Amino acid sequence: MQQNRTVLSFLIFPIILLAAFHAPVGLAESDEFSITIKKEKPKKPETPAEQIEAAGYTKRGADTCLRCHDEESEYPVLPIFKTKHAVVADERTPFAGRQCEACHGPGEFHTQTEEGEEAGSIVSFNPVDDDLIATPERYNRLCLNCHEKDARIGWQGSVHESVGTTCTNCHRIHVEHDQVLATASQPDVCLSCHKQQRAEIHRASAHPIRFGQMACSECHNPHGSVSDTLLIRPTINETCYTCHAEKRGPFLWEHAPVAEDCTTCHVPHGSSHPALLARRLPLLCQQCHSQTGHPSVAYTAGALPPSGAAGFLVAKSCLNCHSQVHGSNHPSGIKLSR
Ligand code: HEC
Ligand code: HEC
Ligand code: HEC
Ligand code: HEC
Ligand code: HEC
Ligand code: HEC
Ligand code: HEC
Ligand code: HEC
Ligand code: HEC
Ligand code: HEC
Repeated sequence: MQQNRTVLSFLIFPIILLAAFHAPVGLAESDEFSITIKKEKPKKPETPAEQIEAAGYTKRGADTCLRCHDEESEYPVLPIFKTKHAVVADERTPFAGRQCEACHGPGEFHTQTEEGEEAGSIVSFNPVDDDLIATPERYNRLCLNCHEKDARIGWQGSVHESVGTTCTNCHRIHVEHDQVLATASQPDVCLSCHKQQRAEIHRASAHPIRFGQMACSECHNPHGSVSDTLLIRPTINETCYTCHAEKRGPFLWEHAPVAEDCTTCHVPHGSSHPALLARRLPLLCQQCHSQTGHPSVAYTAGALPPSGAAGFLVAKSCLNCHSQVHGSNHPSGIKLSR
């Protein structure tokens, strides 16, 4: 999922820089020095880290950036203007405010690049380039400044936050369509890290994720949630009921494990048994229901046709008679048979 790294040569830009380029003055934090250095450019610190820490914001925002990062650039910067971030009329957006620097942070020294000089540093959201400057927390803070509420309310302390995942591990900003926001392309983003689930969704019985008809985010909130496994609802069952409401009941005759936890019998991502079942029938039922009291027949050759016990094992096995395994509303459905 790594983007191709852009290696823009500074050689592309010297001409632009020949035009007298006066750096903005007085942007440094230390006001007491601003008088003495008034006519001079603030001195560019040496290390990338220092440059990023000491920089101020540019005066002309995106206009400054776009002199160098134009349509000729190797890294396609411009598609961002087709996204919601570039809606200037919406005063909450970056482009209604500090523009590029709302995300990339102050670019004072970076934009002062002289002919033949290596560009000064700026946050790139790429851990390789940013070296030790930018931690996941720092990257995420740049986004959370505007996105801390709503679905991200549980981000702090969430699994993804605590393992150092960044917003940009999932989101693309400089593209017209962010792949993680679309049902069909989202699973690939998640599955690039979650290999086991990739195998599971390709099993014989699965939710229609592999056909591009369902997204991981229909059950999970990747930004954090109150459930253990980032589910969109506090419990597994509540999550399943958002689509399978008929399984909620209420039933006249309940089947205890159903109301308790759907994953007692089903696996959510995929199974090699029909109907996403965790085990094949009748073994599934026999985990809890013993042979004593009721003719629950062991899964052995002796019980196969033409034996009279075959009805317990072939076709839908126990379900041949107990078809209402999720619960029954029939007055005489106490044995879940109608
Ligand atoms: C004077 C030309 C120039 C201007 C103005 C300029 N850049 Fe750059 N920028 C470059 C060059 C050259 C590179 C790639 C080479 C490098 O990183 O040394 C680059 C790289 C970047 C990178 C990637 C950094 C990295 O470490 O790979 C980002 C992000 C960036 N610029 C953002 C901006 C923003 C935001 C602005 C406006 C505030 C801006 N640039 C203004 C020339 C410029
Ligand atoms: C909403 C936040 C946001 C805004 C606004 C934004 N960027 Fe970016 N930019 C990013 C992120 C995040 C990346 C890392 C790659 C990605 O996710 O697309 C990036 C990547 C880049 C890169 C390539 C970095 C590299 O490693 O080579 C350049 C250059 C760049 N941006 C320049 C700009 C310029 C110029 C503007 C203003 C016109 C701008 N960005 C506005 C978030 C933003
Ligand atoms: C200056 C504030 C600001 C910053 C900084 C910012 N955003 Fe946004 N972002 C917005 C606004 C405003 C919207 C539009 C929300 C809406 O339309 O409801 C938006 C929309 C989005 C969307 C939804 C896009 C869509 O098409 O629905 C995503 C995803 C997003 N931002 C991610 C990020 C990430 C990741 C970062 C950090 C790299 C970031 N934003 C930085 C203000 C910001
Ligand atoms: C593990 C992947 C992942 C990470 C990490 C991630 N997101 Fe998202 N984000 C998503 C998915 C998936 C959606 C679509 C959710 C949906 O359709 O309900 C989304 C939607 C959004 C939206 C737009 C929809 C909304 O809820 O308003 C914004 C804004 C957003 N994310 C911001 C962020 C920010 C900020 C961060 C970092 C703190 C972040 N995301 C980290 C996967 C991720
Ligand atoms: C950059 C890699 C990465 C991406 C992309 C990613 N995840 Fe994760 N995710 C992790 C890591 C690492 C963990 C914590 C370790 C683990 O449980 O595998 C995690 C944990 C989770 C968990 C919780 C597991 C638990 O045991 O509590 C869920 C659910 C999850 N991710 C769903 C998603 C979804 C949905 C997406 C896509 C929207 C996604 N992830 C994208 C790396 C990623
Ligand atoms: C139909 C709902 C549903 C969908 C769709 C779904 N999940 Fe899950 N996922 C669950 C449930 C429920 C659990 C918790 C299982 C448990 O606790 O036994 C879970 C658990 C996980 C875990 C933690 C696994 C573990 O063993 O701890 C990860 C990681 C995960 N899902 C990733 C994904 C990814 C990636 C996708 C998209 C390809 C996805 N899920 C789609 C319902 C879903
Ligand atoms: C976002 C909606 C949604 C959620 C949430 C959801 N499902 Fe599904 N489920 C579906 C769809 C769509 C199908 C496929 C129906 C079809 O193929 O006709 C399905 C099918 C099933 C099937 C039958 C599969 C088969 O092969 O016959 C089972 C069992 C199932 N879901 C269990 C669950 C469980 C358990 C949960 C909670 C962890 C859950 N579902 C959450 C939408 C959802
Ligand atoms: C005691 C085991 C068990 C539990 C617990 C269970 N199911 Fe099932 N479920 C089954 C069996 C067995 C089938 C196969 C039915 C068939 O083949 O006719 C099935 C089939 C399904 C189907 C597909 C056929 C249909 O009836 O729509 C869905 C959807 C489903 N279950 C959802 C759920 C949900 C949601 C929960 C939790 C509320 C749940 N199940 C709990 C055993 C169980
Ligand atoms: C996780 C354990 C568990 C699994 C798996 C399970 N059940 Fe049950 N079942 C129970 C419990 C607990 C009861 C309630 C027993 C009681 O009330 O005495 C019950 C009740 C029943 C009853 C009604 C019994 C009565 O006395 O009213 C039938 C019939 C039944 N289950 C059939 C099945 C079938 C068929 C399957 C397989 C699809 C199955 N069960 C899977 C735990 C389970
Ligand atoms: C040929 C039809 C049939 C099949 C197949 C069948 N059952 Fe039954 N089951 C019944 C009938 C009828 C009763 C009610 C017996 C009674 O009331 O004495 C019953 C009762 C039960 C009970 C309640 C026991 C009790 O003492 O009241 C359970 C639990 C049960 N079955 C589980 C299973 C399991 C597990 C399987 C699969 C191995 C299965 N059944 C297969 C017909 C069947």
